[in-house]
Amino acid sequence: MIGHGFMGRAHSNAFRQVGYFFDLPYELKLKVICGRNADAVQKFASKWGWEEAQTDWQKVVMRKDIDVVNIGAPNHLHAPIAIAAAEAGKIVFCEKPLATNLTEAKRMAGAARKLPNLVWFNYRRVPAIALAKRLIEEGRIGKPYHYRATYLQSWGPDPKRIGIWRFRKSDAGSGAMGDLLSHALDLALLLNGPITELSGMLQTFMPDREVDDAVLLLARFANGSVGTFESTRFATGCRNRNVLEVHGSEGAIRFNLEDLNRLKVFSSSDSAEMQGSHNVLVTSPEHPYVSHYWPPGHIVGWEHTFISTLADFIACLEKGEPFHANFDDALEVQRLMDAVEKSAQSKRWISVTPGS
Ligand SMILES: NC(=O)c1ccc[n+]([C@@H]2O[C@H](COP(=O)([O-])OP(=O)(O)OC[C@H]3O[C@@H](n4cnc5c(N)ncnc54)[C@H](O)[C@@H]3O)[C@@H](O)[C@H]2O)c1
Repeated sequence: MIGHGFMGRAHSNAFRQVGYFFDLPYELKLKVICGRNADAVQKFASKWGWEEAQTDWQKVVMRKDIDVVNIGAPNHLHAPIAIAAAEAGKIVFCEKPLATNLTEAKRMAGAARKLPNLVWFNYRRVPAIALAKRLIEEGRIGKPYHYRATYLQSWGPDPKRIGIWRFRKSDAGSGAMGDLLSHALDLALLLNGPITELSGMLQTFMPDREVDDAVLLLARFANGSVGTFESTRFATGCRNRNVLEVHGSEGAIRFNLEDLNRLKVFSSSDSAEMQGSHNVLVTSPEHPYVSHYWPPGHIVGWEHTFISTLADFIACLEKGEPFHANFDDALEVQRLMDAVEKSAQSKRWISVTPGS
């Protein structure tokens, strides 16, 4: 695994835990963890149970005793590592956003496509979001009219973060857009299908900052519904508020990551005196993923979304079925972000053709 920072912990935890919660047909061995600082990466390796620590990713991706290369490094390293690993015949896992720009993303998807691959759009495996997908597919909210997503954080003005890679365009590609909007767009494509046209704006509040601090957009979906999206690192009071709402002809759903185990579901078919949002606690064995973890009513957390992602990947690998979200799915998110940039620059609506 390359990158032992914040996501290094989330991924290491998933690799270690997946075998406890899901029946795996084989054992996962944590072979090599890679980072820049030899001491820090050695400590990390000992703590999380990796066999070896390394500081040069190029020496790791070619090794014959490694089957999967997992990338949790800053965004500008996703493309070179993923392409080198894919060309060495490895299964590649990569963090979001897939790349720093659309050209890189296309090259990555092309290289990785010959083997199963994974992008850590982990919110797909929140049980409440997986339930929302099921309800939408069953037609419970009818024909979708409105899709509304806000992904809001507040750490953008923090003076302690000045100088980090996330604010450099060469390292990050973009700011709130790649970091937060990418998640919101992936969920929109999952729950509501392709976006055909969008109008976006990007805003940088801090002087000398190279990337967007906030991004907003209007979108039209292929299914005839319309969407609004807002992502920012300047939403004072919101630490990690990832909210989505879908309003359809027969009902509505609402999810807020701050209340991860709940899905609010409104059904127009309820009798008039009972109409209101059902506050569904998504912790029953009948709900997605829950039966693998705790007894009914015992909640799960953010870390479980990574464990469930990995478990689904392994299940797909065993069955020979395609896994999602993969590099091609993440390429569609990158295509939309590219369109947002073009729209923001030109102040015009931009048409988007999936797979183009
Ligand atoms: N899925 C999610 O919810 C989620 C959440 C946070 C971050 N991310 C993504 O994860 C990635 C990493 O973010 P982070 O917050 O963990 O960053 P971080 O800065 O905490 O960690 C980055 C790691 O990469 C390592 N690294 C940097 N250059 C390297 C090199 N040349 N060789 C080897 N290792 C190198 C660093 O040593 C560090 O361990 C980003 O792409 C980010 O968008 C995803």
